[in-house]
Amino acid sequence: MKILGIETSCDETAAAVVEGGSKVVSNVVASQIDIHARYGGVVPEVASRQHLLTIIPVINKAMAEVSWQDINGIAVTFGPGLAGSLLVGVNVAKAIALAKKLPLIGVNHLEAHIYANWLDSFKGEPRKVEFPCLCLVVSGGHSDLVLMRGHRQFEKLGRTRDDAAGEAFDKAARILGLGYPGGPAIEEAARSGIPCLPLPRAWLKESHDFSFSGLKTALWHLVHKGGISVADAAASFQLAIVDVLVSKTIEAAKQLEVEQVLLSGGVAANKTLTQHFIANAPVSVLIPPPHLCTDNAAMVAACGYYHFQAGRISGYDLDVVPSLSLG
Ligand code: KG4
Ligand code: ZN
Repeated sequence: MKILGIETSCDETAAAVVEGGSKVVSNVVASQIDIHARYGGVVPEVASRQHLLTIIPVINKAMAEVSWQDINGIAVTFGPGLAGSLLVGVNVAKAIALAKKLPLIGVNHLEAHIYANWLDSFKGEPRKVEFPCLCLVVSGGHSDLVLMRGHRQFEKLGRTRDDAAGEAFDKAARILGLGYPGGPAIEEAARSGIPCLPLPRAWLKESHDFSFSGLKTALWHLVHKGGISVADAAASFQLAIVDVLVSKTIEAAKQLEVEQVLLSGGVAANKTLTQHFIANAPVSVLIPPPHLCTDNAAMVAACGYYHFQAGRISGYDLDVVPSLSLG
């Protein structure tokens, strides 16, 4: 069974075909990063206009080697995300579903990030996910810790109380003059630095929640005092985020006696984060390859496949829900 996935929730226009919920047949991502970089962040109006320009060519490319007759359903992200951007994907998906008489499947973007873990790795090895598993979703807008007991059974344990991990990376990069997007820029700068600067960690011991805004403010004060190396500041900031994400997730994994830990979202592309998880987790850790951690439509198609299997089809009145949450 093949599903066409469509993703336009933020600044990536993406379409992909996935077979059986795991085999990536095609995966096309048109990134708008270069357009938004000059403004230091995503400009919503520019993003939606750019989605309009690229969505049809991107879908055509994803479908280049696939016959429409072989497609069994259209999965599309309907939230959370930027309203204008989501509208482009949802309306195109509706139009195709109606014209081709195919079922429409609305997908939660955060669930989709988690389902990137079901996609075959770049080595082509099938991945085996075991329930119950603990999912850490760390993206530009979210830092959620979620217990998953089965398909579509999400129990949110923790979230960020202020900045998301990706947002913290983006803001820290701006403070350090490293440009946008911040995560990859900080990771690159940190390679030649030593994590020697004193930066705080908000442990919030009584809960599974996260908080990163104090860390960002502490970095700002350090930088404005002067006399520090950008590389050392990037390495120290990165390690502070990694320490908190890894320690709190592992503590929850032990408490809940889960079978696996699943990482996902753009920040899961960070090598220091994944190395610390692999070195310290008491159970196996699944991590999608970096290009499936950041926004893509293969994860949307994989998630849509499991909805479809469970008979969860959306009506043609599907609307966008910009503030949709998980669980
Ligand atoms: O999941 P994603 O592509 O889009 C959202 O759904 O938000 O995540 C984007 C976020 C950005 O904040 C970006 O700075 C961060 O993921 N990111 C990284 C890395 N690559 C992307 N953060 C740390 N290290 C990276 N290598
Ligand atoms: Zn995302």
